Amino acid sequence: MEFTVNHQALAYLVSAILFILGLKGLTHPSTARRGNFYAMFGMLIAIAATLLSRNVQSYGFIIAGIAGGAVIGTIVALRIQMTAMPQLVAALHSFVGLAAVLVGVGTFLHKQEAGLLNAVLMGEISAGVVIGAITFTGSIIAFGKLQGLLSGAPVKFVGQHQLNAVIALATVALAVYFALTGSLLSLMAVTLLALTLGITLIIPIGGADMPVIISMLNSYSGWAAAATGFTLHNDLLIIVGALVGCSGAILSFIMCKAMNRSIINVVFGGFGSDSGTGDSAGAQAAHKGVKSAAVEDAVYWMEDANRVIIVPGYGMAVAQAQHSLKELMELLEARGVEVKFAIHPVAGRMPGHMNVLLAEADIPYDRVLEMDEINPEFPSTDVVLVVGANDVVNPAAKEDKTSPIYGMPILEAGRARQIYFLKRSMRPGYSGVDNLLFYQDNTSLVFGDAKDTIDGMNAALKGSGH
Ligand code: TAP
Repeated sequence: MEFTVNHQALAYLVSAILFILGLKGLTHPSTARRGNFYAMFGMLIAIAATLLSRNVQSYGFIIAGIAGGAVIGTIVALRIQMTAMPQLVAALHSFVGLAAVLVGVGTFLHKQEAGLLNAVLMGEISAGVVIGAITFTGSIIAFGKLQGLLSGAPVKFVGQHQLNAVIALATVALAVYFALTGSLLSLMAVTLLALTLGITLIIPIGGADMPVIISMLNSYSGWAAAATGFTLHNDLLIIVGALVGCSGAILSFIMCKAMNRSIINVVFGGFGSDSGTGDSAGAQAAHKGVKSAAVEDAVYWMEDANRVIIVPGYGMAVAQAQHSLKELMELLEARGVEVKFAIHPVAGRMPGHMNVLLAEADIPYDRVLEMDEINPEFPSTDVVLVVGANDVVNPAAKEDKTSPIYGMPILEAGRARQIYFLKRSMRPGYSGVDNLLFYQDNTSLVFGDAKDTIDGMNAALKGSGH
């Protein structure tokens, strides 16, 4: 049976529905696996339907590309650490951006040769090329900052916003000129300007604000793909691009809301620092009047507790302490202690970061509570164990109007009877802000890598023989 345009349209429709079901599935950890499966299946149908199209003239290059991509993708996916996921996503967005630029320029050259250029097509090409080029270089800078290849510090200079505004205006003007004239030179100039804009827009942003920026670049990559879909007359690319564009924009908005910051403030603010003194933890703690405690102290309080709440944060991801935490939960529960996990919407470095890690360790979903559900429970909690979290429990967000995190909703860990922080030093968290909770009378810091500390707690609990 011949594979017609109608068959392709039908297959694309099924794929689009599967992509939407995939996105829906990703809204909750318990359905995320199913969501991923829907999306993968949708992509398989989409690729098969595209390859069967009569427009494909030769399979040689396509097979070589798929084989090369599959090998690289498999190796990267197997080797990537969870903590390096944001930079991997940034790298992948840069590919989408580059692809949009190449498709745009390629289509222009091809249609010019065939004499098939028109203003609408050239408008689509310039939109795809501009958004793609900004996404490409912007994502490369984001990748470099997160991977530590470039300094994470914001790069700022006088007249920066004005310069960006001039480049942006020149890009739009040249893009319109190209759409009206079809001059190859203006397409090249527009591409160069947009590539520059991607760099100048992202360098002033601190490495710490990168997760929101990556989500925004995700959105841009979607719009670049949608523009490419118009250029190639590919309906599925338009739908998928719009889905990615909208979901990335919504995610950026949700993240900003959870940090109580406006997107404008994130894009131009340079909030956050990668600074931190390397002084010995104990010395700094003593200097600042902070109490440090031994593993055994925390275990002593937890064993006799009625309720323990664990607040995981970025440090849990760095230490990969989730499996040790599962064991701690089981050991405490065996002693009749109620154990819950409190999740702040922006704990870690990407949305759902903590949920994914806790799910990986098979921690039951009913022990994992969101901020609004768990906050009323802190006052009746005996021990809070803050595992590599910092900003998300910092009372400065409520009490210090001058603090950069003022207004961010927090987990009210400070209202419990005893609070133990598991961290390696006195260094601040993501926002670079000192944590007021360290200085509360009932707070102690247990210094060390979170996994080592929890393994020590588990050993002590096993040894205590209750
Ligand atoms: P942070 O405030 O960044 O604190 C992480 C803590 O983990 C640090 O105090 C660090 O202290 C400790 N740590 C690092 N490695 C450790 C290890 N191996 N063992 C033990 N502790 C370790 O983390 P958080 O409380 O999760 O807050 C997240 C922050 O990221 C918020 O400010 C949020 O706004 C921001 N952010 C999040 C997102 C998303 S979507 N999640 C997006 C953008 C921004 P030491 O170095 O002393 O160990």
